[in-house]
Amino acid sequence: MKSITYSSPFPSDFVFGVAAASAQIEGGAFADGKGESIWDRFARSPGAIHGGDTLDVACDHYHRFDEDFGLMASLGVKHYRLSIAWPRIYPSGDGDVNPAGLDFYHRLFASMSKHGIKPWVTLFHWDLPQALEDQGGWTARSTVDAFARYADTVVKAFSGEVKDWITLNEIRCFTLLAYAYGLKAPGRKESAAVVNQTYHHALLAHGHGVRAVRMFGGEGARVGLTDNVDVSVPVTETPADIAAAKAWFADKNLHILGAIHGKGYAQAYLDRVGADAPLVEAGDFELISLPTDFLGLNIYTATYVRAGRQGEAYEAVQLPANYPRADSSWLNLVPQAIYWAPRMCHELYGYPSIYITENGCGYNEEPVVNGEVVDLHRRDYLRNHLREVHRAIADGVPIDGYFLWSFIDNFEWEDGYQRRFGIVHCDFQTQVRTPKLSAYYYADVMRLRTVL
Ligand code: NOJ
Repeated sequence: MKSITYSSPFPSDFVFGVAAASAQIEGGAFADGKGESIWDRFARSPGAIHGGDTLDVACDHYHRFDEDFGLMASLGVKHYRLSIAWPRIYPSGDGDVNPAGLDFYHRLFASMSKHGIKPWVTLFHWDLPQALEDQGGWTARSTVDAFARYADTVVKAFSGEVKDWITLNEIRCFTLLAYAYGLKAPGRKESAAVVNQTYHHALLAHGHGVRAVRMFGGEGARVGLTDNVDVSVPVTETPADIAAAKAWFADKNLHILGAIHGKGYAQAYLDRVGADAPLVEAGDFELISLPTDFLGLNIYTATYVRAGRQGEAYEAVQLPANYPRADSSWLNLVPQAIYWAPRMCHELYGYPSIYITENGCGYNEEPVVNGEVVDLHRRDYLRNHLREVHRAIADGVPIDGYFLWSFIDNFEWEDGYQRRFGIVHCDFQTQVRTPKLSAYYYADVMRLRTVL
């Protein structure tokens, strides 16, 4: 447990980093034998992505990674969270390995090492091979088996270069938003029973990721899940509202962190889903609840909760229309989210080590003017959130690191390239990179380990 006061700097071993994901920045969508991903396919369905944007070129990081790591290093970045594209390694999801895919990441890790940057690698950040989707995708248990083989291959191949592994990124987004709401690839609208099964398959895949790292990760390898928990913030920091927010949090996160830690689905969850409960096979929860080394949390926004005024355990408060938010419609600006989510995960599930694996904000139109992007709105977002991270550590919450989303503007899924999350501006026509004011701000924070 780190011990700091409200006025001391971040702990000396606190990890400051930046994050991105394969599909969002690499481009090279069909280079060197890469297979089609569900996002490559989804981007070609009319109306699926803002502006009809595709992932074909993105930030062309596939060809420019050395330049990008040079830029990161010049800003003082020493930790970078990235993901591996499953369809580069297994173009058909399963079957034969593509050696050129493995070679790409060996070259990428060599470049990071040359620039003094440590990799934090996510095994799955949504780019499922389309061939697996054709056989049912996350609704099919065979996808879990394919993931297990993919995880084994990747962890074995890179155990010398990577020590920190993340199994999956944001289960809700590639299950609920993808198979129930049709917003994310593959854009399906399935029944509750099918969607609950995708959650279960995702939990199993997480378990396989942990197993793969334990079996093949080598000495010092660590592993955890990155979850986008549903976050509650007490309307006032009074014992009654805090208890209400905690009850809401436990309830909303029952089917993911609750299931992992409960070593099974809680009765409350089974009552809620009734006949739509997922099919569970013997031994599933032994895998799902394998111990991890840390929890990754992606924190962007929150719901305000207070004690129920009619005696209920909690009451979620509707945000007024003029509550501040970023250009992403879901991104209400609630910096206390990054204080309360880790604190609740620590208190409810006992996590001894938590990393904020993403935090950032998306805005449109951030033009380069006279060589500069003056994104004071993002600078303020970062400052407000980092202050809350610092407050949490001072209050004894074991947050060991923070990764800013994102290093560079990139393909923001269904919002395409219009929505910019980077601290480095990307001109998608010329591929020119321009660090924004927020990049220089974050560089100072990392260097001085203090929120300025
Ligand atoms: C979470 C996702 O992991 C990432 O891919 C996405 O771009 C950011 N949120 C911003 O929406």
